Amino acid sequence: MEKLKIVGGRPLKGTIKVDGAKNSAVALVPATILAESPVTIDGLPDISDIHMLSGLLEEIGGRVTFEDGRMTVDPADMVAMPLPNGKVKKLRASYYLMGAMLGKFKKAVIGLPGGCHLGPRPIDQHIKGFEALGAEVTNEQGAIYLRADELRGAKIYLDVVSVGATINIMLAAVKAKGQTIIENAAKEPEIIDVATLLNNMGAKIKGAGTNVIRIDGVDKLDGCRHTIIPDRIEAGTFMILAAAAGEGIVVDNVIPLHMESLTAKLREMNVPVEIGDDQIFVGKAEHLKAVDIKTLVYPGFPTDLQQPFTALLTKAKGSAVVTDTIYPARFKHVDELRRMNATMKVEGRSAVVSGPVKLCGAKVKASDLRAGAALVIAGLMAEGITEITGLEHIDRGYSNLVEKLSSLGAELWRETLSEEEQAQLKSG
Ligand code: EPU
Repeated sequence: MEKLKIVGGRPLKGTIKVDGAKNSAVALVPATILAESPVTIDGLPDISDIHMLSGLLEEIGGRVTFEDGRMTVDPADMVAMPLPNGKVKKLRASYYLMGAMLGKFKKAVIGLPGGCHLGPRPIDQHIKGFEALGAEVTNEQGAIYLRADELRGAKIYLDVVSVGATINIMLAAVKAKGQTIIENAAKEPEIIDVATLLNNMGAKIKGAGTNVIRIDGVDKLDGCRHTIIPDRIEAGTFMILAAAAGEGIVVDNVIPLHMESLTAKLREMNVPVEIGDDQIFVGKAEHLKAVDIKTLVYPGFPTDLQQPFTALLTKAKGSAVVTDTIYPARFKHVDELRRMNATMKVEGRSAVVSGPVKLCGAKVKASDLRAGAALVIAGLMAEGITEITGLEHIDRGYSNLVEKLSSLGAELWRETLSEEEQAQLKSG
């Protein structure tokens, strides 16, 4: 086990490059199961969730190579091997194996997914979709059993706008007989990316990126080549850290359209932001003004940037209310930021942040992926040294973070925890 040590207050400058989108990657990789011949995906992030998924594809007989962001999956020998335990429980996105294996083999056994603890994260809408397509779905001892004699297209209205359910139903429906219509579908860019891969494989999906998706089932999907979209959450994290501790930072490899809600909020705070074709420049931010944020489904302000943004708000003058309508309990970072001298409290579904305050380095723990990002940003802003544990969460979603931030002039490094520190961590 390791900890991350950050010496705060270093001026950060230069260019930082964004990798492929994690939340797209975790669906693209399982989607390869549906093909009959090799699929190559370029630009994948080197994060633990992707290594875990590639291990799962190997467990079911896939042949996988992954080097320099390029993954090739040969699904020819894959079988419907049950995966009730093991790696599936370590990440949320293992639920995409349900849709992909059901779509390909008409059966699957997948342990209920793990991932970040952000409060309740049900998968009832995924299951509603699978059942509408004709699958029998049961939960036996913590694993979901799916089986269908035949999958038939259906009209499915999602009661909750869900990224995971929208993608999972697409995966299960691409080879179903007839037409599937997903109504009240999520519109996130990652959904368009997955639909693009599937269409390149031969699927017939229309309307991805709108709230009605139409899928005409096909008999066979073939291999193809696909380049993933940039990670708008990693890009947003870098824009926020540039506003928090930067003296002029170019965030490279972005789709500026995906960043509009964040760009608007940063400008509202007085952060200088300039938009290029595939780069965004964030200038040195002074005299920041507190702004309220409310997370919403895309194109609203993303829940995945709420925690990093909360860290930035400690530098702004005034009081800000941060409300998460997607995950109302996603506030585990608040106590840790308070250890670093932040003035903030949770009130119902919101956190109230008052500033400006000078953050001080402290020993803190990342409870989940984006809480980890918030602590890294706080550590870069703080006076003194911050020590962050719980790095396994950060490693799930940010590749080469130490190298990337060092290239901007940050002083940070990873250290192995002593036995005493490990024991302390385990005892809570
Ligand atoms: N929901 C239900 N029933 C369902 C599915 C979702 O009630 O069957 C609820 C959830 O509890 C939540 C809301 O609907 O309140 C939205 O959840 P959604 O299904 O959209 O989330 P997800 O697919 O499980 C993905 C990302 C999350 C990101 C959310 C929202 C992956 C693997 N995860 O989760 O990413 O926060 O969409 O955009 O793609 C992260 O990257 O840190 C992360 C948590």
